[in-house]
Amino acid sequence: MNMDELQKIIDDIRAEVREQIAQLGSLEELKQFEARITGKKGRLGELLSSIGKVAKEQRAALGGLLNSAKQEVQSGIDEMRERLQQAEHHAEQQADVGLDLTLPGRVLRPGGVHPVTAVQWEVEAIFERLGFTIEAGPELESDHYNFEALNIPAWHPARDMQDTFWLTNGYLLRTHTSPVQVRSMEKFGPPLRCIVPGRCFRYETIDASHENTFFQCEGLMIDRGISVANLIAVMKLLLREVFHRDVRIRLRPGYFPFVEPGFELDMNCAICNGSGCPTCKRSGWVEIMPCGMVHPNVLRHGGIDPAEWTGFAFGLGLTRLAMMKYGISDIRVMNSGDLRGLQPYERLGSFAL
Ligand code: DAH
Repeated sequence: MNMDELQKIIDDIRAEVREQIAQLGSLEELKQFEARITGKKGRLGELLSSIGKVAKEQRAALGGLLNSAKQEVQSGIDEMRERLQQAEHHAEQQADVGLDLTLPGRVLRPGGVHPVTAVQWEVEAIFERLGFTIEAGPELESDHYNFEALNIPAWHPARDMQDTFWLTNGYLLRTHTSPVQVRSMEKFGPPLRCIVPGRCFRYETIDASHENTFFQCEGLMIDRGISVANLIAVMKLLLREVFHRDVRIRLRPGYFPFVEPGFELDMNCAICNGSGCPTCKRSGWVEIMPCGMVHPNVLRHGGIDPAEWTGFAFGLGLTRLAMMKYGISDIRVMNSGDLRGLQPYERLGSFAL
């Protein structure tokens, strides 16, 4: 064997080592691999022991070549050993804490828009086109804005209609979005067109149709000569846009201290199309929106002269509207931390945008 032949054999072994070493998966495999290459009976090992048979004058040179090749291969093997040791140690630690790396991962679902948010955005877009601004008010409200300024004095029995979460300092969690009516009157003065989507709270026992936390969207339009006709026109337009078809409505007298006259606005039940079903209690109609002409006392509280200005207001139940629009029959899925209840509607929600 001459130097060139040996060099070629060594190069082959090097190439083989490079290719195979990275694929070793355990210390046991590495051990076997090492025996095949550098062990006594391994390829380099055998070459080294055959050095004795080479002519004396070539021995030193060939031996040097082989030894440096062996060192190089050995350090590659040592490095791999360290890596495999670390990996096995890591796996042992994870096994100790009960981690099963063979379990399939959880599928990450893309997020979606909550049905109430989807309906809210839709309602906002409709009213923005009509020149309404979008206002907001505090969820922690004073007695004045939540009740007094809305013509509901402390002695008024209407306070009982809205079971209230009171704070110990006289403040409360707003029971409706109506307080922002007077706040907006004070802020902007007449003429005024605004809506107020927002979260409201009532001291309710939760069941399929009652929640202690829900969303409303207040609406307010004040100008000279505003009448019930304007109210009906705007309500019809809103429902047509939301349900993408003409919706039949009816007005019944309704009592709210802050409007006079006050109405309950019903729409043809979207679930049964008016023929009668459990959702509409077989009447064919569902209450969707209390509304009315702003009471002169409320205008006065907002600093507006009722002799010159009139207005209408409505309190759209956003949560209720979302349930109607998406056919959600149990209100509890809306606020539940268990997102599985909302998943069927999330896609609809984002689709509607
Ligand atoms: N704030 C009332 C409630 O939550 C709903 C309401 C009724 C709002 C009549 C209005 C309205 O603006 O005109 O029960």
